[in-house]
Amino acid sequence: MHFLSPLLFLSGLAAGASLQQVTNFGANTSGTKMYIYVPDNIAAKPAVIVAIHYCSGTANAYYTNTPYATLAEKYGFVVIYPESPYSGTCWDVSSKEALTHNGGADSNSIANMVSYTLNKYNGDKSRVFVTGTSSGAMMTNVLAATYPDVFAAGIAYAGVPATCFYTGTVDGWNSTCSQGQLNLSQEYWANAALNAYPGYTGPRPRMRIHHGTADTTLYPQNYYETIKQWTGVFGYSTTPSATYPNTPRSPYTRYVFGPNVEGILGEGITHSIDIFGDADMEWFGFTGSSTTTKTSGPTSTLTTTKTTTTTKSATATPTSGSGGAQYAQCGGIGWTGATTCASPYTCKKMNDCEYILFS
Ligand SMILES: *[C@@H]1O[C@H](CO)[C@@H](O)[C@H](O)[C@H]1NC(C)=O
Ligand SMILES: *[C@@H]1O[C@H](CO)[C@@H](O)[C@H](O)[C@H]1NC(C)=O
Ligand SMILES: *[C@@H]1O[C@H](CO)[C@@H](O)[C@H](O)[C@H]1NC(C)=O
Repeated sequence: MHFLSPLLFLSGLAAGASLQQVTNFGANTSGTKMYIYVPDNIAAKPAVIVAIHYCSGTANAYYTNTPYATLAEKYGFVVIYPESPYSGTCWDVSSKEALTHNGGADSNSIANMVSYTLNKYNGDKSRVFVTGTSSGAMMTNVLAATYPDVFAAGIAYAGVPATCFYTGTVDGWNSTCSQGQLNLSQEYWANAALNAYPGYTGPRPRMRIHHGTADTTLYPQNYYETIKQWTGVFGYSTTPSATYPNTPRSPYTRYVFGPNVEGILGEGITHSIDIFGDADMEWFGFTGSSTTTKTSGPTSTLTTTKTTTTTKSATATPTSGSGGAQYAQCGGIGWTGATTCASPYTCKKMNDCEYILFS
């Protein structure tokens, strides 16, 4: 103890963690900004939580208005607050690139922020989590679909299922989805998630979906469609196996569909939904009995369907004589089409061309 300089000790205490921008986190095609909160009380092998703002929000607003930085001091995890590069600061959850593993859009930049953080802070790869509100909740579902290899669990506050906002344009707005006009099958939504990372067979994030029944920004049908998506991925029924009224508190009800999928529906709650920091800590495994580290793959009943879909895309006709266009498939297991892209694109694994399936 007497070897410690009292001055150093004091300055260490006085420093205090704050939100910091990181400008060198790796490839960043879409220009997404990265902010980080590294707690004074950082764990030796910290977990990482990605906390994603809503449209019109900023990293700083989400840092200020959500409990994650305070909880980081308590539990020692690092928080990444990405910031949208687009005017209006919605996230790109509508382009083909955003909805594809390593597609080069916002979702890809956020995955790169996670890699950077895990390397820099000796993070625990098996405890990387994602949460967000509204557009950030849409991105939470998109990241769970595009990077199931990265995230162990996700919590979406008032979002839409992965791929529901597809418009084929960057940072688009899909009113059919926002207004809850889509009522599609469990199989449709599960395949939409599975096809975001074709060929992936490893573990997938546990998902908890929050929504309000009086939400007129992203209509409550989106809750039911998102539940279909993740119950479909895990092979669960869409009928809850357990129901807990007034949980985490009135007027919310917690629905359990299986160990990896839960819903929390707020009766009469609008798009201004409550964030439940303590419940989040339990879902992410910092408290309570939830199992959160990724130990096994999903027991998906949709493996057959997935294989069928893959086979189908593998026999698709290339869109140009000289090979596939940008974002077209250009190789992979069972692929018999062109393996070069139309000029000026080149066929690369999971990059200029949409993907190459690989084992
Ligand atoms: C990502 O792009 C944003 C906006 O141009 C910039 O502020 C940031 O420094 C970039 N980061 C990296 C790692 O390229
Ligand atoms: C909105 O998304 C749905 C599927 O999620 C799609 O069928 C529809 O064409 C999309 N709308 C636009 C304008 O792209
Ligand atoms: C959605 O579709 C199912 C099956 O076709 C139907 O039973 C259900 O009532 C529909 N839900 C809504 C809200 O339209």
